[in-house]
Amino acid sequence: MSDPYANLGNAAEDIQIAIADAMDARSIDPAQVAMRHAYMSEITVPGGAFAVEMGSGTGHITRDLITVARASRALGIEPAALMVERARTHHANQPGLSFEVGDAKATGLDSGSVDLVLMHTLLCHVPGPEDVMTEAFRILKPGGTLAIFDGDYDTATVAIGDFDPLEPVVKYMIDANVHNLWLPRQLVPLAAAAGFATGEVRAHGYIASGEAAYFMSVIDRALTKMQAERLLTTAGAEGLRAEAQARIAENRFFGFMSYTSMLATKPA
Ligand SMILES: C[S@@+](CC[C@H](N)C(=O)[O-])C[C@H]1O[C@@H](n2cnc3c(N)ncnc32)[C@H](O)[C@@H]1O
Repeated sequence: MSDPYANLGNAAEDIQIAIADAMDARSIDPAQVAMRHAYMSEITVPGGAFAVEMGSGTGHITRDLITVARASRALGIEPAALMVERARTHHANQPGLSFEVGDAKATGLDSGSVDLVLMHTLLCHVPGPEDVMTEAFRILKPGGTLAIFDGDYDTATVAIGDFDPLEPVVKYMIDANVHNLWLPRQLVPLAAAAGFATGEVRAHGYIASGEAAYFMSVIDRALTKMQAERLLTTAGAEGLRAEAQARIAENRFFGFMSYTSMLATKPA
């Protein structure tokens, strides 16, 4: 299936709004925040550093480049105007932070002008990730840092038993939303081919907690899409939605996936 994130600006407005809401929900999930802090706090930048997030969505992660990774200025580059507008509104009070509509494959930034480039859950959505890596290498200063964090979506599961009926709902959404399922497992050779010296590669286990906002947004959007595609009747979709909600209300919901982070350097 085609991945709407690969061309988000052209998706229907209601889909863009649902995706923006899901990004906002995921970005404040305490377990997601903890994973971001775990890899970003290992990044070292020089004083006065300029950082760029490619694929900045609603901007929460770009903001972390200043508040967690200690860059002085951060720019989020994002092709979907609706996301850029939302990012500007959300983060208007953060000094040093800005957002522009643009493409990670051709940022228009000067060669050797950036201290840190971040791709946070971007690359698995982009056809031709080699071109994004080449652009990151071009705009980074020698000695600059590339940080990548992406979902290893094949590990995603909500099953609490054999033949759990919610499991294919999650798999369906991943199939419909991830261009390259195997990207996190291909990161090291991809970065090396662009000229980077690869450093720390880590796995981060994510377990849903509380209201399981991220997994619930995945299940909810999947059921809406399955209904639109006549895979489920309204009653069928409502039944599965009620099952997920009951698991949360009764503290029986389980959701897990693994993420991969990689830090790399442009050789000095
Ligand atoms: C899953 S979202 C992640 C957004 C944000 N990094 C976050 O984690 O909240 C992926 C984002 O990458 C953007 N994107 C897709 N292709 C892109 C490209 N060629 N250049 C820059 N951004 C792109 C999408 O529009 C989308 O906003």
